[in-house]
Amino acid sequence: MRMYDLIMKKRNGGELSREELRFFIENYTNGTIPDYQVSALMMAIYFQKMTEKETYELTMAMAESGEMLDLSDIHGIKVDKHSTGGVGDKTSLALAPMVAACGLPVAKMSGRGLGHTGGTIDKLESFPGFHTGLSTKEFKENVNRIGIAIMGQTADLAPADKKLYALRDVTATVDNLSLIASSIMSKKLASGADAIVLDVKTGSGAFMKKEEDAFALAKEMVKIGRSAGRDVRALVTDMDQPLGRAVGNALEVKEAIQTLKGQGPEDFTELVYSLGTQMLLAGKAANTEKEARDLLLDAVRSGKALEKFEEFIKAQGGDERAVRDESLLPSAKYVTEIPSPVNGYVSHIICDEIGSCCLMLGGGRETKESEIDLSVGFVIHKKVGDAVKVGESLATMHANDEAKAAASMSRFLEAYSFSETPPERKPLIKGII
Ligand code: URA
Repeated sequence: MRMYDLIMKKRNGGELSREELRFFIENYTNGTIPDYQVSALMMAIYFQKMTEKETYELTMAMAESGEMLDLSDIHGIKVDKHSTGGVGDKTSLALAPMVAACGLPVAKMSGRGLGHTGGTIDKLESFPGFHTGLSTKEFKENVNRIGIAIMGQTADLAPADKKLYALRDVTATVDNLSLIASSIMSKKLASGADAIVLDVKTGSGAFMKKEEDAFALAKEMVKIGRSAGRDVRALVTDMDQPLGRAVGNALEVKEAIQTLKGQGPEDFTELVYSLGTQMLLAGKAANTEKEARDLLLDAVRSGKALEKFEEFIKAQGGDERAVRDESLLPSAKYVTEIPSPVNGYVSHIICDEIGSCCLMLGGGRETKESEIDLSVGFVIHKKVGDAVKVGESLATMHANDEAKAAASMSRFLEAYSFSETPPERKPLIKGII
């Protein structure tokens, strides 16, 4: 078999076979096929697209390019959750302890973030001492003992995807539905969960700006997962404005703690309950949506969800006292209000611009090597549909550098649009697949 022939076949609109896709993935992972040939294939796929069968075979080849984690020695049905990401998305921080408190084992592999804020692991590192460098053995032991563990993705988890995603990133071939679906699902399938709940975001702060594209991606990922014998469900949810109120690592941790106490923002709380409901159903910890919601509510009201979070932070070396004493979490030097320039209603927020403002303050990574400032970011007081008066605070900015704060504040204001009449409010949950 020759890579040249595969490139030509795809360029001419043909369908690659399982054997051809496996040949490509195996030899790209071991370094035999060079980047320039794979770049050409990615561009051919970008224009010619892939069939469902090709997408499934590519996913499986990538998943099996490294270790397929075996979680069978963890008792019960293991349910994982994945979000396609967005601004203020701290969902796992509240969701994982909440479902674990309902008796569902949470064995989660998470990543660090490149972009607006850190990923789940960066956020959790707001707890002094917290680490995710667990061995697979410790990871499984923690889940069996306390019901929850989160570790970093091992180097051997879908290594083909790691190489391919980095190449797509620099060859303008990321935004192809089949390539995104296979990339995400290869990692999820290799992580060993029996069931997977996906949160596919749509809007100006999401990968998928258009709702129809988000639905198409969600359906594609659900099909791949079910073909691989896993129970997969997806929610398509709004990311046209930041989720909840906090944007920035430690600030998001504080908001997740508020939510575990039952005092979180309405939209974020609703998302956590909706995803949690699907997780409990997939894990057979509840038979109906009502039963699942009641279990989650009880975990919060009884304080069990917050206690589970403390147990989890402590088990991974973190200072669990910070769960009840926020002063132990990182905090910024300058805390400033951002005043509204007008009277009226917030009609629109360019979501990814708010993310970029957080990045400007140092809250995200521009390159893999960048250090994150965990303390900076925003707490948003006025969201789309809210009435504002001139001078009233739109958000509180947390910064450590005066020059960066000034630049970030003017960009933040530019991301806001106002109207004289209230705009239509969009639903948070757009659909379940
Ligand atoms: N996230 C991934 O892991 N892969 C993609 O291709 C896009 C988003």
